[in-house]
Amino acid sequence: MEDSKCPVTCKEEKEIKVLFVGDIVGSQGRKALKQTLPLMRQRFQPSVIIVNGENAAAGRGITRAIAREFFDMGVHGITLGNHTWDNKEIFEFIDEEPRMVRPANFPSGTPGRGHTVIKAGGKELVIINLQGRTFLPPIDCPFAKADEIVEEVRSKHKCILVDMHAEATSEKIAMGWHLDGRVSAVVGTHTHVQTHDQIILPEGTAYITDVGMVGPRDGVLGMERDAVLYKFQTQLPARFTVSEGKWHFHAVLIDMDESTGVSKSIQLIRLYEEDLLLA
Ligand SMILES: [Fe+2]
Ligand SMILES: [Fe+2]
Repeated sequence: MEDSKCPVTCKEEKEIKVLFVGDIVGSQGRKALKQTLPLMRQRFQPSVIIVNGENAAAGRGITRAIAREFFDMGVHGITLGNHTWDNKEIFEFIDEEPRMVRPANFPSGTPGRGHTVIKAGGKELVIINLQGRTFLPPIDCPFAKADEIVEEVRSKHKCILVDMHAEATSEKIAMGWHLDGRVSAVVGTHTHVQTHDQIILPEGTAYITDVGMVGPRDGVLGMERDAVLYKFQTQLPARFTVSEGKWHFHAVLIDMDESTGVSKSIQLIRLYEEDLLLA
């Protein structure tokens, strides 16, 4: 006899599927996101969509209009990084936008917030943004800041995602171990190259060293390659602009148990512009 309260449905309701999309670079990256999200929704039915937007405005920061564009596409939350302040317009709206976070370990008094609660379709996910200090400016300790925030939010929230924006793979891996069992996921951003080390750590935290990027694939990390090559070969200053051409899209899908905060799976997503035609 069929139960009117379908056990499958009940089980699904206890999950939070988080689609986390890597650094979106320039107009090509924004176009790629817009073209890709319908397919992501159709294939994976994510409950929450989070993107890293630190390079969304021509590679440098984010504007109010672009943040709005992301939310209109169905994005629920935006994380940032070392390029947070590159577009000066950020100072006009960062304090008013509760769905956007910048690294929490910037010095105290910095505009904006380092963590927030994202609400989407009855689900709640805390997002925390942290920035590494190895090969990046010497800001406050991301490990101590993580402890402080996790301690604060864990009494009320089970599902917590950390965007660890850092250059050094070692610092990101260390953060994964530091937070294993205390947050649902630690995802790395910043290097724009997707790593293949996705794992559920022993205490239930989903981890990846870098999610990758969304935007031009024929440049160098999304920037026009001739200027980058010129700088590497001459050691002279060069002005970098966002590359053109076809895009690639990198993200991860993380399945969290809503009642415990433990992650059950983390799946890599990598898509080329041509793949959309096959979808
Ligand atoms: Fe960055
Ligand atoms: Fe970036």
